[in-house]
Amino acid sequence: MKMLMHASSGGSLLRVTVAVSGLCVPSNLFRRYGFRHYSVSTALPSISTKKNNKYLSQPINAVLDIGGTKITKDDVVKDDPTNNVPDSIFTKLGLQLHRRDKHPIGILKNAIYDYFDKNYATEFTKFDNLCPIVSLKQNFDDVLVPADHVSRSYNDTYYIDAQTVLRCHTSAHQAELLRMGQTHFLVTGDVYRRDSIDSTHYPVFHQMEGFRVFSPDEWEKSGINSTSYAAEELKKCLEGLARHLFGAVEMRWIDAYFPFTSPSFELEIYFQEKWMEVLGCGVVEQEILKRNGRADNVAWAFGLGLERLAMVLFEIPDIRLFWSNDERFTSQFSKGQLGVKFKQFSKFPPCYKDMSFWINDSFTENNLCEIVRGVAGDLAEELKVREEVQSKLNVVLR
Ligand code: DAH
Repeated sequence: MKMLMHASSGGSLLRVTVAVSGLCVPSNLFRRYGFRHYSVSTALPSISTKKNNKYLSQPINAVLDIGGTKITKDDVVKDDPTNNVPDSIFTKLGLQLHRRDKHPIGILKNAIYDYFDKNYATEFTKFDNLCPIVSLKQNFDDVLVPADHVSRSYNDTYYIDAQTVLRCHTSAHQAELLRMGQTHFLVTGDVYRRDSIDSTHYPVFHQMEGFRVFSPDEWEKSGINSTSYAAEELKKCLEGLARHLFGAVEMRWIDAYFPFTSPSFELEIYFQEKWMEVLGCGVVEQEILKRNGRADNVAWAFGLGLERLAMVLFEIPDIRLFWSNDERFTSQFSKGQLGVKFKQFSKFPPCYKDMSFWINDSFTENNLCEIVRGVAGDLAEELKVREEVQSKLNVVLR
């Protein structure tokens, strides 16, 4: 099948050519005439996509209750020029994979809880039901994300309206929990980012945030300054956590930058013959503590992506599988069993679709990924830019 469309958009010519199965226009033709050329590979699922699947989709008129906040589709997918949340994202709200004890994400969360329960005299308060709809202030300003930071863009973040987003990280809850008087806490939740399509990226994933406040008597008796004390405690804590999850692994600390911590670090572990980033962390910026009633304290914080770790620990090869309700997936995991190795079941072979089209300056790859996901859902396995070529020629292919 070959389809050719052209339309005027904002004065510039848009041409779309979609070639599906067998009748693809040879790619060197595209090359010659200078399109931006994308290749989208889709595979039939090893994942069930049945419409009434009680986990994969929410009935569109459902009223969700997340931590006491009632949410309907109209609260999230709005006819507002600033809204960029598609239906496919709304259907993920409230599924809360991290709250299922027999799901790899829930199993991993519980294993991390165990580590903190066993190793700390002061219990860390656990939050895993905070609403993912947050204000711009919570998501960005409260954690000192600069006004021009790329993560604030419509291209990267899901906006419900100009002041409200789907949280793009669990750090969005740090300030409110501090104000509530919390000093030791873990926040687990679903987070949302507009992103590329491949086996390790999905627009919804899960993070765990850790936060610990120290009082002056804690570092004073150690004889070192507050920042160094917090950094040392942080590293000890996270090295212990990595060993708890991965066994006796080699680790290294990399200096990093996050707006909310200074100094900031990333922890990497050497696992299956490569260095893998496990988490980001650091000593919390004093400004955050000061604004939230903790001017005399020091604190550490960390944030880790649960899918990334679960994929390694359970040997799950594709991030879409976490959303599967196929028995052949779900039956492989049980409560408390960290690191059971996932066994592949039949998977349909990928089927490649090549597309080439004219773009204008407002084009972004993330926007294209949203469109592809909107049509193909979880069938879309990967989207790759093949080439981008400028051309002054106006050529119509037939
Ligand atoms: N919020 C960061 C992210 O999503 C992760 C993170 C890094 C959280 C450092 C922290 C931290 O609390 O200290 O990429």
